[in-house]
Amino acid sequence: MIYLDNAATSFPKPDTVPRAVCGVISRLGANPGRSGHRMSLAAGRIVMNCREALAQMLCVKEPERIIFCFNCTDALNMAIHGVITPGAHVIATALDHNASLRPLSGLSARGVITLTILYPEGGDAVTAPQVREALTEDTRLVVCSHGSNVTGAVQPVHEIGALLKEHGIPFLVDAAQTMGVLPVHPEEMAADMVAFPGHKGLLGPTGTGALWIREGLQLTPFREGGTGSRSDSVIQPDELPDRFESGTLNLCGIAGLLQGIRFVQDQQRAIAEHEAMLAYKLRDGLSRLDSVSLYGPKEPLLGVVSFNVEGKRSGEVAEALDRYGLAIRAGLHCAPLTHQWLGTMETGAVRVSPGFFNYPSDIDRLLSIVERL
Ligand code: ALA
Repeated sequence: MIYLDNAATSFPKPDTVPRAVCGVISRLGANPGRSGHRMSLAAGRIVMNCREALAQMLCVKEPERIIFCFNCTDALNMAIHGVITPGAHVIATALDHNASLRPLSGLSARGVITLTILYPEGGDAVTAPQVREALTEDTRLVVCSHGSNVTGAVQPVHEIGALLKEHGIPFLVDAAQTMGVLPVHPEEMAADMVAFPGHKGLLGPTGTGALWIREGLQLTPFREGGTGSRSDSVIQPDELPDRFESGTLNLCGIAGLLQGIRFVQDQQRAIAEHEAMLAYKLRDGLSRLDSVSLYGPKEPLLGVVSFNVEGKRSGEVAEALDRYGLAIRAGLHCAPLTHQWLGTMETGAVRVSPGFFNYPSDIDRLLSIVERL
């Protein structure tokens, strides 16, 4: 199989990742932060090392402000439900994923918030002036995906963050498609919260993700329970990360994630350049085929390219590619508003997402099959 579905989850992982997962489950296996014995302390050190590695990658000083979650959706839910108060106005973009659009739409349908969705106007992404126009006196949160999981477009989060900082409005960045590839530095983005998965660009196992929360921002815990700390009280502790990390952590996943981060940290620029090169090659090849419609930016920064073949549903193309041993994702990619904007709600789109471990010959193989189709 040639795997070209890295926007869904990255594969393969560096060898050190499965080795760390297996090492923990077969030899360590204790509960981090719960018991005082050596195994538990060793497990706790893995968690601490991973949190510190993430802090280094985000260029933030306080690792404890990074909360381990199960995936990016979990992190976005923690952020959204944590800051929203009744009557709030929230702004999101059509390039956002259902990971944020569904919790926001649910809150809107229940009358808790009012929601404004911004669509790109004339370009590939929503702009800061559009966000400025949409602000109201009641705006309490702006949510924005850094990179679209359908088109690969990168949204101007630095400009949007600077604007929101002027107005004192919390800014939540969904870095699902960019973390581990592009620089994701919350302070440079003037972000208040950044959600990201561990299993995509960071090359960790599924079941991992995290939320970074700016100092001073108060969130209501999304889930409460045992933290291994302040066990004399039935009240959720205030200290971070415990306040938001109830229940036993995914130690195996976190151990693997630590190795994924170490692999990425050494060569993030090379990863970004390689993925952009493959995406560019793919776009270039597809643009020479008359019966192909291409979506997204002409100069891709991310390894995400979507297209359609005239007269075929995207699912048919995906099935054909699967028969030839190519793994891609077709359909609507949990991003209905992006497809509505592209005009592809009926057909869906064929999404190809190369990663660091793909070769240019993988793209040639895909192009030759699309040409035959
Ligand atoms: N959000 C992931 C994707 O775009 C799963 O495929």
